[in-house]
Amino acid sequence: MQVLDLEQFAKPPTHVAIIMDGNGRWAKARGLPRLAGHQRGAEAVRVVVESCCELGISYLTLYAFSSENWKRPPSEVDDLMALLRHYLRREISELHGNNVRVCFIGDRSPLADDIKSLIDGAETKTGANTGLTLTIAINYGSHNEILGACKNIAQAVSEGALRLDSLTEDVFERFLDTANMPPPDLLIRTSGEQRLSNFLLWQLAYSELIFMDTLWPDFSKRNLEEAVSEYYGRDRRYGASNG
Ligand code: IPE
Ligand code: IPE
Ligand code: MG
Repeated sequence: MQVLDLEQFAKPPTHVAIIMDGNGRWAKARGLPRLAGHQRGAEAVRVVVESCCELGISYLTLYAFSSENWKRPPSEVDDLMALLRHYLRREISELHGNNVRVCFIGDRSPLADDIKSLIDGAETKTGANTGLTLTIAINYGSHNEILGACKNIAQAVSEGALRLDSLTEDVFERFLDTANMPPPDLLIRTSGEQRLSNFLLWQLAYSELIFMDTLWPDFSKRNLEEAVSEYYGRDRRYGASNG
């Protein structure tokens, strides 16, 4: 097997975003309930966080639950929420010990009160950390995020707090959930699906997209290294010609 020499490259991508897909198919292939796939998926999160720290990636954003995932059977939604609760209770201390800053994007309002408290607690506890910024998207959907930004901007304009002619792209971005975060350099989606499923539509405008067949519970450090290696081979032109 070819060994990847990522150290020959000067700079890793600053921000990697991942659509963690394929838990259900992983479980189905083994004759297991979908919950088993989600549980193994949570283990893969540990692996990818550690790997990002080792590779010197500064921002990792993970799509954990979309605003459309409420359409799943209530029992699966309950399982996913229970798993989130378990993850937050179990992992935050260790993440904090590893200097990881944990943030959340998405609409928290419909989440259970104890999950909201765990989220707030995690953000407060780790807010001053200077290592990896781990952002977890829960009840996140780009349409809702962009619409919310538009409403807040309209409000600010009507109150005289913002002038319409000073509304630039930079100012608009400050109204998104991802304010103060650079856009992803690299988006990875596992499980072979090639769509964005309402994830970071504004922010991914110039990201490099990598779709891999690996199902999320099988995702390893090696998969991350392969994606980063492919990313290094891409020519990011941002619309310019490269002479
Ligand atoms: C991703 O795996 C996890 C969530 C969306 C919460 P899926 O549950 O979507 O797995 P597949 O796509 O059915 O295999
Ligand atoms: C996207 O996966 C959401 C997450 C990974 C959290 P889905 O499995 O929900 O996406 P679709 O339904 O295949 O587009
Ligand atoms: Mg899926």
